[in-house]
Amino acid sequence: MTISSLGYVGFKASDLAAWSEFGARILGLMPVDAPDGTLRFRIDAQAWRISVEPGDENDIAYAGFEVAGPGALSDMAERLRGAGVEVGNGDPELLKLRGVMGMITCRDPDGLAVEIYYGPTERRETPFVSPVGVSGFLTAGQGLGHIVLSAPDIARSRAFYSDILGFRLSDIIRMRLSPEFGIDLEFYHCNSRHHTLALAPLPMAKRLNHFMVQVDDLDDVGFALDRVNAAKIHLTNTLGKHSNDHMVSFYAETPSGFEVEYGWGAREVGEDWRVVRHDKTSIWGHKRQ
Ligand SMILES: [Fe+2]
Repeated sequence: MTISSLGYVGFKASDLAAWSEFGARILGLMPVDAPDGTLRFRIDAQAWRISVEPGDENDIAYAGFEVAGPGALSDMAERLRGAGVEVGNGDPELLKLRGVMGMITCRDPDGLAVEIYYGPTERRETPFVSPVGVSGFLTAGQGLGHIVLSAPDIARSRAFYSDILGFRLSDIIRMRLSPEFGIDLEFYHCNSRHHTLALAPLPMAKRLNHFMVQVDDLDDVGFALDRVNAAKIHLTNTLGKHSNDHMVSFYAETPSGFEVEYGWGAREVGEDWRVVRHDKTSIWGHKRQ
């Protein structure tokens, strides 16, 4: 029994007005009713996937990982406790707030709040409609997308996400930061999405380097790129294609300073997946701006 997907994320942000505009008008996410003072967005049938809450951190505040049901949840609690991780039971208030049926909570080795849950709320009676006409976001069987986290103590992070939560290594990319110094980015999957989680083994200004959402059509990426440019938003990486997941994507700066990757066309991992290493993050493009 392992994590089945990244189900939702919560950000703390100082400029919610900017996020409201950025989420809906640039990324094409669907704004939905949210508890007082927060912003919530849908990208599919699930009641919400991204929450932006007031706070000065401008970083990820929590990650919600979904499991199949109550059995998987209690198995996960047992595994975490067996490994010496402090586990809380999601209180009824929190369950209600998140709209899920059951939850346990813990912290990853870097202190990120991790919520493991089953039974999210779906709103199929109100279809997902993007305010700027995005044809759709790819989530079926693959969850929200992916997150890339700073993991300065990579051995501890690897043990937590891989040995306990059950994420499986997809591949690594050796990233050269200077002629003498490189780091190995580690990419992990928990379903057919090439990576739901990537760990960067170095301290960074924020826990979250970027999050990724995947659209159904290449044109959705192109239209989003046009919106980013028209709004003079900082394009942090030009359009490019990643060496490992083959995603065609660009990166832009969010109102909180961390980045969003907006992509299409990633390949998926299957039964015959082999772990390999790459020396470049991208086959073409993705030029740092
Ligand atoms: Fe990414």
